[in-house]
Amino acid sequence: MKALIIGASGQVGGALSALCVRRRIEVYGTSRKGQGFLYLDLSDETSVRDAFVKARPDVVFLCSAMTHVDSCERDPELARLVNAEGPALVAGECRKVGAKLVYFSTEYVFDGSAGPYGEGDPVCPVSAYGRTKLEGERAVLDVEGALSVRTTVVYSHNPASKNFVMQLISSQRSGARMRVPSDQFSTPTYAPELASAVLDLAGKGASGIYNVAGPDCMSRYEFALRACAAFGFNPAFLEPKLTAELGQAAARPLKAGLRTGKLAAELGRSLPPSEESLRKIAAIMKQYE
Ligand SMILES: NC(=O)c1ccc[n+]([C@@H]2O[C@H](COP(=O)([O-])OP(=O)(O)OC[C@H]3O[C@@H](n4cnc5c(N)ncnc54)[C@H](OP(=O)(O)O)[C@@H]3O)[C@@H](O)[C@H]2O)c1
Repeated sequence: MKALIIGASGQVGGALSALCVRRRIEVYGTSRKGQGFLYLDLSDETSVRDAFVKARPDVVFLCSAMTHVDSCERDPELARLVNAEGPALVAGECRKVGAKLVYFSTEYVFDGSAGPYGEGDPVCPVSAYGRTKLEGERAVLDVEGALSVRTTVVYSHNPASKNFVMQLISSQRSGARMRVPSDQFSTPTYAPELASAVLDLAGKGASGIYNVAGPDCMSRYEFALRACAAFGFNPAFLEPKLTAELGQAAARPLKAGLRTGKLAAELGRSLPPSEESLRKIAAIMKQYE
């Protein structure tokens, strides 16, 4: 099997690439920044076509997106180009070569009034990011056998990533205070476990929508406290705040999170609890010290 990971330079694409290598899956990764990657820009049709010609993939993992939620709100046209039209281009190439397409979607397709959400719950995005990711998901699911994985608050130890846990570590180390929403509820997801579940789902030929997320629903502040406990940090630098006080450009789904019964039924397992994953990160941090 030959895999093409679109967005291999990102947090999720990086975790997937590492796992493919460990599982001896032949893999090509893309980025717009060169250096060991195939060049692919989702807003440039030719680059998408060229990457498919070079990689000739059997399976495509579409991890690339404009992921900064407030930037999407400020530039919805660019967000639409990258998050909706880009996946439609990738879907077209997958159709041409008969490759299986796996897309990374988000809990931001929901409005956050009644989470945690199951796969069949009605969608109602409240931000440009959520709307454009939903458009991308719909374009992708039009391809026969495509799989859309909805996930949320993905974290890992990755110095190149600005994921929530890396932001927390960097604030604690620099002595800066960190404002953390106390009213955004979600199911934080450890990137290596996400990668493993997604590879297994793809290997089983799963299609349609699957939630792949951690098992514990909690506020971002509660998650930050758990991270501090795992890392031995004094949590005094954390400032719990209501979302309304943060002045963010985009609205957030507050009562969100994803239920993962369908995943558990398919794979016979759920993702491990966040304490276990945070302990793994603490062990990695020790190696770096
Ligand atoms: N992180 C989360 O909490 C979370 C939650 C729910 C869903 N998701 C979804 O999961 C996927 C992966 O997220 P992540 O955390 O890995 O994001 P990330 O670390 O921000 O990585 C984003 C990736 O997208 C690529 N990219 C950005 N603009 C691009 C463009 N115009 N053309 C091609 N590639 C482009 C970047 O590559 P270069 O800059 O190197 O080109 C990078 O590889 C995304 O689809 C995201 O919507 C993430």
